[in-house]
Amino acid sequence: MSLAAKFSPLPISTSLHPPIGNFMTTPVNKIILGPVIGGLSYDRVNLWARASGPAVLHAWLSRQDDLSDARLVGNSALKEATGYAGVVPIRELTPDTTYYYAMTLEPDSRPEVVDFQPFTTFPPPHEKRSFNFVFGSCFLPRNEDAGETFTAINGLRESDDLRFLLMIGDQIYADKWKHNGIGKIAVSKNDYRQVYEYTWSQASLRQLLTRLPAFMILDDHEIDNDWHWDDFDRRWASIPFFDRIGRWFEGRPPQERYLPLHRVRDGLQVYWEHQGMHAPAMRLPPKLNLANQYELRPHDPGSLAYTFYFGGAAFFVLDARTMRVRGKAGNTVLGEGQWRTLETWLEGVKDTYAVKFIVTSSAFLFNMLGDYTGDRWSGFKDERDRLLHLLAHEGVEGVYFLAGDIHSGHAVSAELYGPLGKRIPIWEFCSSPFEQDPNWFSKFTFFPVLSGALQKHKLHFDIGANNFGIVRVNFDNPKRPLVQFELHYEKKGEWKTRTVPEG
Ligand SMILES: [Fe+2]
Repeated sequence: MSLAAKFSPLPISTSLHPPIGNFMTTPVNKIILGPVIGGLSYDRVNLWARASGPAVLHAWLSRQDDLSDARLVGNSALKEATGYAGVVPIRELTPDTTYYYAMTLEPDSRPEVVDFQPFTTFPPPHEKRSFNFVFGSCFLPRNEDAGETFTAINGLRESDDLRFLLMIGDQIYADKWKHNGIGKIAVSKNDYRQVYEYTWSQASLRQLLTRLPAFMILDDHEIDNDWHWDDFDRRWASIPFFDRIGRWFEGRPPQERYLPLHRVRDGLQVYWEHQGMHAPAMRLPPKLNLANQYELRPHDPGSLAYTFYFGGAAFFVLDARTMRVRGKAGNTVLGEGQWRTLETWLEGVKDTYAVKFIVTSSAFLFNMLGDYTGDRWSGFKDERDRLLHLLAHEGVEGVYFLAGDIHSGHAVSAELYGPLGKRIPIWEFCSSPFEQDPNWFSKFTFFPVLSGALQKHKLHFDIGANNFGIVRVNFDNPKRPLVQFELHYEKKGEWKTRTVPEG
């Protein structure tokens, strides 16, 4: 008997998530993006998808690998206001358990067996369990066969027991008009949505995201190149003057050469639809209006930063972009609201989690000589120093920065001057790009971060090639966890690796 034939109709369960009233639509529309396994933890998951038009998204779940207990666990109405993207949050899952899920727009029928994919919930917080995950950034597909990196990750997913993927910026390139699928720079919600549709439709990426739980955060290109706010009231935003001039030379129309408030708001809204709504709860979320749109109130301290935990490892995913202000009004990457949440989090995890990852879309411990854009943390030296001094002064051990953005993969180590002369190792692992023009020159421009909190700054490697990073957290010795970074990079059609620390 086939698996499908074994199924018998099951009632809709309301124990995990209540179904939505009588909102039933004839399923003429189809799922065009996703599913994505978002916001996974030891007891919950946010299953996401986007449809071609109004519909109801149904999530099915099974604990048995023969799917004999598959049942409908939740629905979500996909509406025009969110670009027909939606999420079905599922709660009260069991830790360390493999589930099989499927998403469908069909109201009555069970999904096909082939539509079910597994995910495994995380161990309970604080349990020191060894695990591996993968991360990277920057994806600009230039043809229909793009996404070799995602195919390579998919190939290692099972053999390397990769538990999740961190995508840490430039998940789309809204401004790369030659390769964003719309032939112009995105300037409206509709444009941004189309860029996601084009970029995320790449078969290799879509296949990976249906199988590997994902956590995401934006960098600049989700809105526009190297953008920032000009004022703390967040009424005015800018892109660099060389982009404005370059676009003028290219004959781009005026609306593509400036970044008015409404364009930032539209880009952020569409970011939320695709990357934000399935993320774990934000620590201090920005205010939304009644229509769930960003208000961008002048003094709203809320950002897109969030935290999550895998057993004995804690993650703080910084929002290094949407609170960023530079110019006459002052300079900040994180903004004071996010600083407060980061300080509180560090205080909480300092002695309770042996391994802490601070995820930043912009490189933190990597200075580039002649980096005239000032777009990375090196352009905000005081704030970088503030964080380094905080870590040193508080004696925070086991900190690893995960970075992206600079189109080359690197590993940097240093030592913090901890309390009572203690030397505290600190690392930065960078993976960028998944697929973009590699920066093979950056290794020649590296120079150490000059900070009174830091010594023995060392660049272990810097490789300009398409890449992804695997991080292996080993708790075999619970008192001395080993964290290794393995950069997988492609040179002349061959995948190679570099690992730090070795051993
Ligand atoms: Fe990038």
